[in-house]
Amino acid sequence: MTKVTMTVNGKSVSGEVEGRTLLSTFVRENLGLTGTHVGCDTGQCGACTLHVNGKSVKSCNMFALEADGAEVATIESMAAADGTLNTIQQAFQDHHGLQCGFCTPGMVMTAASLLEENPKPTEQEIRTYLSGNICRCTGYHNIVKAIMAASGQDVSAVAAE
Ligand code: FES
Ligand code: FES
Repeated sequence: MTKVTMTVNGKSVSGEVEGRTLLSTFVRENLGLTGTHVGCDTGQCGACTLHVNGKSVKSCNMFALEADGAEVATIESMAAADGTLNTIQQAFQDHHGLQCGFCTPGMVMTAASLLEENPKPTEQEIRTYLSGNICRCTGYHNIVKAIMAASGQDVSAVAAE
């Protein structure tokens, strides 16, 4: 076992991990931050997306030890301490961008990275950026609408369900 230390959601944390321990496992099992979901463990679904040093990362594709010293943000950092949703989360709620909710933490974290890089994305840019995040429920249209709305843009032109 090896000690790993990182900053997660603004707090310094450390733990003992094996070389094979995934970052997704570390945040869920060592830190109890179960908002990061694991859908496939093979880098395909995007449910485990979080931010490492400001960039979206599929945390099942990264060993915990690779994040030693990094700044990590999980979905738990998105809402305010009193539970008030952030702009992206609120837009997902307002535009029905979720059904079962399993993909939603990864979608929100990916959307946050997109809007950081590109504050006014087109519908196609949103769809392309989300290509690594799979949703089995919504058909994506309302997710795209939510992200358009979160960026302050008109959602009426987004393809209907
Ligand atoms: S659980 Fe990481 S991409 Fe599916
Ligand atoms: S809302 Fe169910 S997988 Fe996306």
